[in-house]
Amino acid sequence: MANGTVVVVGGTQGLGREVAQAYAADGRDVVVTGRDPSRAEACAAEIGGSTRGLGFDLAEPHSIAERLADVGDVEYLVLAAIERDSNSVRDYDIAAALRLATLKLVGYTEVIHALLPRLGEDSAILIFGGLARDRPYPGSTTVTSVNGAVTSLVRTLVIELAPRRVNALHPAIVGDSPQWVDMPPERHAALVARTPIGRLVTMAEVVEASRFLLENGAINGLNLAVDGGWLCM
Ligand SMILES: NC(=O)c1ccc[n+]([C@@H]2O[C@H](COP(=O)([O-])OP(=O)(O)OC[C@H]3O[C@@H](n4cnc5c(N)ncnc54)[C@H](OP(=O)(O)O)[C@@H]3O)[C@@H](O)[C@H]2O)c1
Repeated sequence: MANGTVVVVGGTQGLGREVAQAYAADGRDVVVTGRDPSRAEACAAEIGGSTRGLGFDLAEPHSIAERLADVGDVEYLVLAAIERDSNSVRDYDIAAALRLATLKLVGYTEVIHALLPRLGEDSAILIFGGLARDRPYPGSTTVTSVNGAVTSLVRTLVIELAPRRVNALHPAIVGDSPQWVDMPPERHAALVARTPIGRLVTMAEVVEASRFLLENGAINGLNLAVDGGWLCM
């Protein structure tokens, strides 16, 4: 029984958009957000059904609450936005690191803070991290740090927001996502060679795992790797 909106922050593209599309197809009220209100509204129109688009920059957290002011009761909140930051400690870009750390840690938390009065006791929150948490690569210093912090954020939110449920999903590289679909064939082959299922995970599989984490009332405090067994390698 649906009793609230599905809000997908970072829902204008990629994995967030796929999750939003799935709930819109079920006839749910959906809100998708991105940085630019016009792009978010256009995306909402493409998704169709009862979908609205809102624009705000998670890296400017003071402006978030007012942008979410007219969102009604929320059943599922998905935090999927990302600005990719290639950063190493030897060649450190402070501005880029500040944006990503603010976006994922302060921005995500401020969205939850702003929506909390509208998150009922049966609601659930899903935070996107990523496998860079466990498997760093050159340039992943900020990405690895913030995705590691997502793990801890889940734990404190479970305690602070009980009985609401909070989980995180940590995908490996999702082969058909916009970010990776055009990767060079040799890189694709190298990634497949390190993935026990013999292929990269798909957006559809991430959507299915997202729905499991949001909808199963017993699942709480989980940091789920969706990686085809990558972590076993
Ligand atoms: N794709 C993968 O293979 C993969 C692997 C591991 C982890 N992940 C994680 O999964 C999540 C989704 O990744 P994705 O690849 O699907 O992302 P994506 O295609 O790059 O889409 C990013 C989304 O975030 C929004 N966004 C970017 N910067 C923002 C900001 N400053 N404020 C508000 N919204 C902002 C974008 O909206 P606008 O462009 O409209 O502003 C867009 O909707 C991320 O958390 C990522 O770390 C993805």
